[in-house]
Amino acid sequence: MMIKPDGVKRGLVGEIIKRFERKGYIIKELKMMTIPEDKAKEHYRQHQQKPFFDQLIQYITSGPVVGMILEGEDCISGVRTIVGSTDPAKAAPGTIRADYATNIRYNVIHASDSPESAQREIDLFFN
Ligand code: PPS
Repeated sequence: MMIKPDGVKRGLVGEIIKRFERKGYIIKELKMMTIPEDKAKEHYRQHQQKPFFDQLIQYITSGPVVGMILEGEDCISGVRTIVGSTDPAKAAPGTIRADYATNIRYNVIHASDSPESAQREIDLFFN
């Protein structure tokens, strides 16, 4: 998962990590980084044709992010449950996006949606 630039700027890193630790997931790797444009485009390549692609790249490269590899039973679906729906307006109460975001563009956090995308993102950001 990745805490996006707005989450870092707003000082939400500790609060977000706490939720995953409390649940019982193991933090295998943790890294603060500013994503270069080419990696951002690779990361979001499946959204290349979307009207919001340029804005998405601009935003994700606009400041440091915190990337994390989490491990645990049913980790991917469990993490996505804690994160909440992409659109904070539709996110269930108590999820990170419902609690901390109001806008689909600035939605605080990214979480891999499958083992394949998790592996791809780990390779991309953690060598
Ligand atoms: S889709 O169309 O369902 O595949 O897209 P979705 O999974 O909802 O969103 C993919 C990522 O794009 C971001 N997003 C946006 N950014 C800017 N503007 C708009 N309108 C917008 N809509 C979606 C969204 O936050 C997703 O980012 P990640 O990092 O994957 O959560």
